[in-house]
Amino acid sequence: MFGKETITVQKRTLVDFRRMKAKGEPVAWITAYDFPLAQCAEAAGVDMILVGDSGGMVQLGYQTTNPVTMDEMITLSKAVRIGAPGTFIVGDMPQGAYEVSKEEAIRSALRFVKEAGCDAVKCEGGRRIVDQVKAMVDAGILVIGHLGLTPQSTASFGGYRVQGKTVASFEETMDDALALQEAGIFALLLEAMPSEPAAKIARKLKIPVYGIGAGDDMDGQLIIMHDLLGLYSRFRPWFAKCYVPQAAGRYAKHIQSSPDLRKLGREERADGLGFIAREAVSIYVDEVRSKVFPGAGYSYPIKPEELEALKHSKYWG
Ligand code: KIV
Repeated sequence: MFGKETITVQKRTLVDFRRMKAKGEPVAWITAYDFPLAQCAEAAGVDMILVGDSGGMVQLGYQTTNPVTMDEMITLSKAVRIGAPGTFIVGDMPQGAYEVSKEEAIRSALRFVKEAGCDAVKCEGGRRIVDQVKAMVDAGILVIGHLGLTPQSTASFGGYRVQGKTVASFEETMDDALALQEAGIFALLLEAMPSEPAAKIARKLKIPVYGIGAGDDMDGQLIIMHDLLGLYSRFRPWFAKCYVPQAAGRYAKHIQSSPDLRKLGREERADGLGFIAREAVSIYVDEVRSKVFPGAGYSYPIKPEELEALKHSKYWG
């Protein structure tokens, strides 16, 4: 129940994520940045939470993720850990926390683990950061890679653009993915890529490959909490689904069938937005596990001529 201080899920481990990939069981992954929504995510049974630097935009109101600092990420991550004590939590390394040196990368990653209680870290970039990735892995830190559209470098992409649609972009992403796998990441996230090239990368890699806007054929899906709840007013990506309409139907039934609303509010804390948020996340989890989400409606299309061109890539066969 939302609000109760109990561990409701069994915390996943690296071994679970590998097993789930082998068995074709998709991982349901969501972002959270604070205590109450982390509680909702855990109560809804997500496999993993990302404390994304997107929190700088959706929680702190910045226009981009670039101003986010390590101190801010630690504060957000601590709150999420308190709200979701039984969930595998990934801390997102903000811009400036890992590019400068291997030592800086290790220091930042250790802060996520030691100060905030995170289980792993994520960082954006491919071959340009393999030395830092190796150094963190050698220091015993679990690292997730992030390729495709990487928000910290949108300036170099010329804005928020779908990736992997040309042979050059697809092969560059594949080369980066293979280099990161070699450097020891335990999973990879692909963002904003049509299903066909994203699936080729997911099938080529031995490690789990998760997607956000990368189509159905991934080992799991990630969604931004504030998109799922329709809480971010400035922008919602094409691939993000708001689950509040479905959750609101459940809420109406729940309230109607409850004779004592005071009890619902005071004792079970199930009469308000927390209930709706938990139900919304829970429907998302079900849709990921049953492979309903993202489906064609929440995936980037690719033109037939673009797909035809991609078939000439050395990695397509
Ligand atoms: O910060 C974040 O939430 C992310 C996702 C956009 C993938 O990195």
